[in-house]
Amino acid sequence: MAKFAKTAKRRRILILHGPNLNLLGTREPRIYGREKLAAINRRLVAAGRAAGAEVLCFQSNVEGELIDRIQRAAREGVGFMVLNPAAYTHTSVALRDAVAGVGIPFIEVHLSNVQAREPFRHRSYFSDLAVGTICGLGSRGYDFALAHALGKLDGSAQA
Ligand code: DQA
Repeated sequence: MAKFAKTAKRRRILILHGPNLNLLGTREPRIYGREKLAAINRRLVAAGRAAGAEVLCFQSNVEGELIDRIQRAAREGVGFMVLNPAAYTHTSVALRDAVAGVGIPFIEVHLSNVQAREPFRHRSYFSDLAVGTICGLGSRGYDFALAHALGKLDGSAQA
């Protein structure tokens, strides 16, 4: 029983969405697509469940709330994170420090190809800490990141 609980705890993945991503579906759809955040989250939770993992989703427009959620993830035994810090990608040393502080491996995801956009979006405070970065693939980027995380927690992923 204790062994099962330990296994289940390790297969917990946190999907973290930064500011304005609650507006997905209506926010600049040409750039971010028409899919709503709730639909993306539902898909990720279902994919996690099908793989026997627990996927937790959290969105906030508030920097401190994202930091608190990351710190809590460490206490909850989250084994992997998928992080779209949105605009905080380009500005937040505090969020970077939180991610570095907990040491949970993570993939950085962006719906749009930030490298093909304005120069201020080219810098990320997260990419050098990330296992990898997926950008420009729309919401599918989250699915690919989750697939990698599930493989990693299974021990079957390559990298
Ligand atoms: C984003 C890209 C950021 O530059 C922007 O501020 C966002 C969304 C993306 O997913 O493409 O809010 O992270």
